[in-house]
Amino acid sequence: MSPIYPSHLIRHVLWRGEQLLVRPVRVEDVAGYMAAATHCSLEDISARLLRGIRAVSQQLIARFTEIDYEQTMAFVAEGMKGDILACTRLVRDACNKSAEYAIIVRTDLQRQGLGTLMQTMLLDYATGLGLDEVWGLIDTENRKALGLMDRLGFTRSFHIDLPFVRVAKALG
Ligand SMILES: CC(C)(COP(=O)(O)OP(=O)(O)OC[C@H]1O[C@@H](n2cnc3c(N)ncnc32)[C@H](O)[C@@H]1OP(=O)(O)O)[C@@H](O)C(=O)NCCC(=O)NCCS
Repeated sequence: MSPIYPSHLIRHVLWRGEQLLVRPVRVEDVAGYMAAATHCSLEDISARLLRGIRAVSQQLIARFTEIDYEQTMAFVAEGMKGDILACTRLVRDACNKSAEYAIIVRTDLQRQGLGTLMQTMLLDYATGLGLDEVWGLIDTENRKALGLMDRLGFTRSFHIDLPFVRVAKALG
């Protein structure tokens, strides 16, 4: 049985004078994701996927769009022409008290506050779930993401042997 689409989570927000629809992802968003990926640098895609995968295939995108809206939630920011501008994702840990986030903003739309907007909305959503912590892994060289999470109050911890920084923010 397919999960029920959580339409109560749809929001209209103003970003740089443009009305954006921030909504949970849909299975039908594969084409929109593929189109958005053409506006993302390989470096940004690699940063989002933590170096693991550098090319975006339809099968990979399907993994991001087919979610249960319970353990995993993902939001897209849709522009007035229906194009996808940014995505966030939250995957709850087994303990159900914390969750891992991920975020990407189209490369051509960065440094205009969209990352802050989307990450803040994701944190609000996580707070509403009653989670204690949201965390993520960021490549140690990814200054853009580290800078954004610093400003949003995430704290960093380092792991010897790993090329990643764990960032975490306590909620509530
Ligand atoms: C990290 C990322 C999400 C940030 O997105 P973004 O939309 O550029 O974020 P913001 O615009 O909100 O903030 C970034 C910078 O723009 C600045 N900014 C915000 N609004 C601005 C505006 N209106 N005009 C000019 N600059 C602005 C912010 O001050 C910030 O500057 P800083 O880096 O000096 O702190 C984006 O770079 C990205 O998608 N990177 C690739 C994927 C990735 O690394 N994901 C993280 C791991 S999952």
